[in-house]
Amino acid sequence: MLDLVLLPDDRLHQTSMTVEIIDGTIVDLAQHMIQTMIDAKGIGLAGVQVGKLLRIFVVQVGDSEPQAFINPEITGTSEETGDYEEGCLSIPGVYADVVRPLALQISYWNLQGKHIIQEADGLLARVIQHENDHLNGKLFYEYLKPGGQKRLLKLYEKRMQT
Ligand code: NI
Repeated sequence: MLDLVLLPDDRLHQTSMTVEIIDGTIVDLAQHMIQTMIDAKGIGLAGVQVGKLLRIFVVQVGDSEPQAFINPEITGTSEETGDYEEGCLSIPGVYADVVRPLALQISYWNLQGKHIIQEADGLLARVIQHENDHLNGKLFYEYLKPGGQKRLLKLYEKRMQT
């Protein structure tokens, strides 16, 4: 299992870099990320969360096979939005409702170097948006109002002390 980068590590606020070539190193990284995500009982994990500031994330929702997204770009979102409780392996122990579009279209490369355009809805669409935000240094609590952000960070601080 790879070490998880936890808040308040500043790397979590940084923008990740494009993956230039999908080679064995990237495949290896993705496989380790998938194992780390499963061990940590998460459903998504971005490169920055294991200290690799690369535009890659992995996802596993329900019974489906784990999936890696390389250089992803969300190319469309539904107008319809909904809220759902989110957490993050980099901010363990705190959760908050976040409003996001319910469906999306995403363009990315898979581990075989194939370009794919995929539609997603439900929990998968939710996780994809959360993970894609990580590549841009954005964390889920930043969607909350200032008061909510403050409360969540305070609670997190408290949890990290015990
Ligand atoms: Ni996260």
